[in-house]
Amino acid sequence: MQPSTAAIHAGYDRNPVTGATAVPIYQSASYAFDSAEELADIFAGRAPGHVYSRISNPTTHALEQRLNAMEGGVGCIATASGMAAIASVCLALLRPGDEIVAPRGIFGGTVSFFQHVLGNFRIRSVFVDAADAQAFRNAVTTNTRMIFAETITNPSMDVPDVAALSGIAGEANAPFVLDATVTTPVLARGVDLGADILVHSTTKFINGHGTAIGGAIIDTGRYDWSASPFTEVNELARKAGPMALLAYLRNRICRDLGGCPAPQNSFLMLQGLETLHARMRIHCDNALRLASYLQQHAAVRRVRYPGLPDSPYAERVKRQFGGAGGAILTFDLADRAAAFACLNRFRLAKRMTNLGDARTLVLHPASTIFAEYAADERKALGVGDETIRVAVGIEDFTDLQEDFEQALTG
Ligand SMILES: Cc1ncc(COP(=O)(O)O)c(C=O)c1O
Repeated sequence: MQPSTAAIHAGYDRNPVTGATAVPIYQSASYAFDSAEELADIFAGRAPGHVYSRISNPTTHALEQRLNAMEGGVGCIATASGMAAIASVCLALLRPGDEIVAPRGIFGGTVSFFQHVLGNFRIRSVFVDAADAQAFRNAVTTNTRMIFAETITNPSMDVPDVAALSGIAGEANAPFVLDATVTTPVLARGVDLGADILVHSTTKFINGHGTAIGGAIIDTGRYDWSASPFTEVNELARKAGPMALLAYLRNRICRDLGGCPAPQNSFLMLQGLETLHARMRIHCDNALRLASYLQQHAAVRRVRYPGLPDSPYAERVKRQFGGAGGAILTFDLADRAAAFACLNRFRLAKRMTNLGDARTLVLHPASTIFAEYAADERKALGVGDETIRVAVGIEDFTDLQEDFEQALTG
């Protein structure tokens, strides 16, 4: 199945009794069995089944099947949020003394988790220029246990060369963990990008309507866990083969951390998936038109959007994402006061964090997501005081342009 078909049909067909095709919301914490033996077998991993919704749930299972089919992986675990997905993967693989190599300019929550939470456990993160694959290679040491990247860095709007990073990770025998939130399987399937593990914030385009928080982890099956330096996962690989990481995540890390999705939220993600393809096309078209319009506007100093034909990333966007540059862009005005004045004039676009919503959202990243950073650190991340981030929605473009024109000209 192509991803757009899998998004609708994979993992669940219909209720065998009623014929209902929508995945039911199994709003149940736990599950009853006919015998103690059956329950013991499931707990011991000798038989499949759901015992407790912190570990697995039938609604969430359908979402996992669908996402995995879209990405071309060996399996998926859905989580309560994108951050829970990232945290779970890191806590499964990293130990004190280990290192991550990651690009500068990625999502602030991920940077904070790497620096502060993992930092407290003596796990070091080295941040390098997102565009420069050689910088990743140079940062690799014998302690490197993960190469992390985002398909398009949010908010710096850089496009790492994923094939090169995949090669560098392979040479270092470190999994290449790719956050594909902003591209989704519609612009590129994780397996084709050379990722070993994909993480998603399903809160964004997959949900598509700003109605729930969620995340997902997909193992693409590229990384050989049996030859890995990760002792616990390596041991499991003898029994679980390519499913070793997912088994370790489900039965130890996710089970013990408790970052499971609510069944109702999994239903909302399933509903979002069905129209993801159609929405992404409009999101990306609108973003390209908005970026082109902003680029020629007298009040705008700079536009960062990798989908622009004159972007330094145009070739990579074509090679990696079939020419679609995603639906997030940033633009710079004269200074912070101009950025705030413009933000306060928007009538249609909402002053809101989040992205991938049907609505266009505008935000001043320096005073919100990146408020805890020093000014020079923000600058290095591509987040100036004069920068506005736009998460472009699926409204009619003429209405969007009118709103931006009145907001820019006052
Ligand atoms: C690229 C990226 N990854 C991860 C996250 C975290 O996701 P969540 O908010 O679902 O925890 C975000 C949130 O904005 C994001 O933009």
